[in-house]
Amino acid sequence: MNLVKTGWVVVLSLMLTASLAEAAGGESNSIVEPLLQNVSGRDSVSLDGQWTYIIDPYENGYYNHRYEPHTHGYFKNAKMTSPSQLLEYNFDTADKITVPGDWNTQEERLYLYEGTVWYNKNFRFNKDRDRNYLLYFGAVNYKAIVYVNGNKVGEHEGGFTSFNFDITGFLKDGDNFVTVKVDNRRERNQVPTVNTDWWNYGGITRSVSIVSVPSAYVSDYRLQLDPNDPNTLNGSLVVSGTKARPGKAVIAIPELGIKETVRINDTSSVAFSFNAKPELWSPQTPKLYDVQISYNGETIRDRIGFRTIKTNGEDIELNGRSVFLKGISIHEESPLTSGRAWSEEDARTLLQWAKELGCNFVRLAHYPHNEHMLKVADEMGLMVWSEIPVYWTVLFDNNAVYKKAEQQLGEMIHRDINRASVIMWSMANETPSTEARLSFISSLIKQARELDDTRLITAAMDTQSTTKNGILIDDPLASEVDIIGVNSYCGWYVSEATKCAGLKWESEYHKPIIMSELGAGALQGLHGESNERWTEEFQASVYVHNLEMVDNMTALRGLSPWILKDFRSPRRPLKHVQDFWNRKGLVSEKGIRKKAWYVLRDYYETK
Ligand code: GCU
Repeated sequence: MNLVKTGWVVVLSLMLTASLAEAAGGESNSIVEPLLQNVSGRDSVSLDGQWTYIIDPYENGYYNHRYEPHTHGYFKNAKMTSPSQLLEYNFDTADKITVPGDWNTQEERLYLYEGTVWYNKNFRFNKDRDRNYLLYFGAVNYKAIVYVNGNKVGEHEGGFTSFNFDITGFLKDGDNFVTVKVDNRRERNQVPTVNTDWWNYGGITRSVSIVSVPSAYVSDYRLQLDPNDPNTLNGSLVVSGTKARPGKAVIAIPELGIKETVRINDTSSVAFSFNAKPELWSPQTPKLYDVQISYNGETIRDRIGFRTIKTNGEDIELNGRSVFLKGISIHEESPLTSGRAWSEEDARTLLQWAKELGCNFVRLAHYPHNEHMLKVADEMGLMVWSEIPVYWTVLFDNNAVYKKAEQQLGEMIHRDINRASVIMWSMANETPSTEARLSFISSLIKQARELDDTRLITAAMDTQSTTKNGILIDDPLASEVDIIGVNSYCGWYVSEATKCAGLKWESEYHKPIIMSELGAGALQGLHGESNERWTEEFQASVYVHNLEMVDNMTALRGLSPWILKDFRSPRRPLKHVQDFWNRKGLVSEKGIRKKAWYVLRDYYETK
């Protein structure tokens, strides 16, 4: 084993910590800990379940009548202490809401609500003197301000990535309460910006837990097959905490007979390599190994698959062999409740539907999905396109917006760096081809490659040019990515289905292409002629003709048609047909397959 201590790992952990500090609003009283990885593999107490909530559309609990933040914080003491006390916001008498879960589908008054909702959870706790305690949120959409026992512990912006705060100094033995100000208003200077084609589900949308770690603990680890040597595993550890000090860590992979000791030197980070010959992960053989990382009395358990992913000219090579990505796009919407998906059951159902379609690949649009999706994709052998919501028209010439995108990129990569299923990071979807956008996304690509040089980079583009006999892919962004994603709605937004197969696709780039979106809408159960829009027959016809079209695209190495399941969108109001649902699903919101589902399933059987 050659023990290598390299500066880049130190830079990496500092960079991520710095960006998180900035993301937490750099509040003086918020201790921003490095982002915790793999919480389910650690010692934790769940705060999921019934919380109380108070709707606060005028943010009266945060600002006084002069529109200044309350110094004392209306809500932090929202507990009745005497009958004469003026208390207009009392959590003890407030309504209940389930966490995790969006508020839109739990409370009729909140279906279209965009604003602040205050959440509160009372709980009892017994502290262990020499442990640190981090309060971890899987995701809160969109902004969160977090208080523990009335003390502000931090802020986070971004609706689809996890964050945590060290609450050791605020947590008490006995009774405690956590209060969270959640604000899902869309703002022009956010990521995503104000216009999206999905429902703005607000709330504490993923699990919450208190994670117990030693005073010095492994906050970040990665273990991957060397891209150029199938007999070597490369890894790194980052140790954090109030008493991070030199010591030893042990990485064990029992099934491979591996137990490697790694010395943590004066820095809190170390990179290492050791020999191993794992069975490679693939859709056919999704082999995962139990990995245990022990340090300072804590053992973190994970299940990791080992594989390589590369491009070679116009080919995508998984473990050195060319692969065709038979995919489908998926929004993070529950197949069972139609609200924001968050559970393992949601993940298993959605990904099982993809498997039944004949997929070996899923595009998780348009933002990082919950961690269950990635861990279940690892188990099921589904390759994943994972994406940050740099969607349509974010403010590409605004540095603060860039920092928000970069923060979400870092949080996405950091959480899922050990997931074999993730083969590519997507930087953007359908962004306008301007100089500012190219610069913005090129910087994101550079950052992504610095954080993870083992995966491919892509972006979904809709900027292809029309030529006299077809379509030309000539967006300069395509020169920056490894895989070119193109979204094309021939037969729905442009042209007619019968003309799609005749389109000749050309590319200025000798790179793999994925048709990252194609499709059409249909109301499940509405039948008619194939030229009657909104019928299942119309949607099926668009698929038939588009699949003929893609078969003529010489550099095509995959597709992820839009989309597995009908999903809510405020942009789709058509009464009796859409009713605020985007109907491009192959499956209805009730889980009923449409004719087009069978067209794609039959096509994948031939690939
Ligand atoms: C776009 C976009 C999707 C959207 C889809 C549609 O390509 O990427 O987010 O839902 O088309 O119009 O249905």
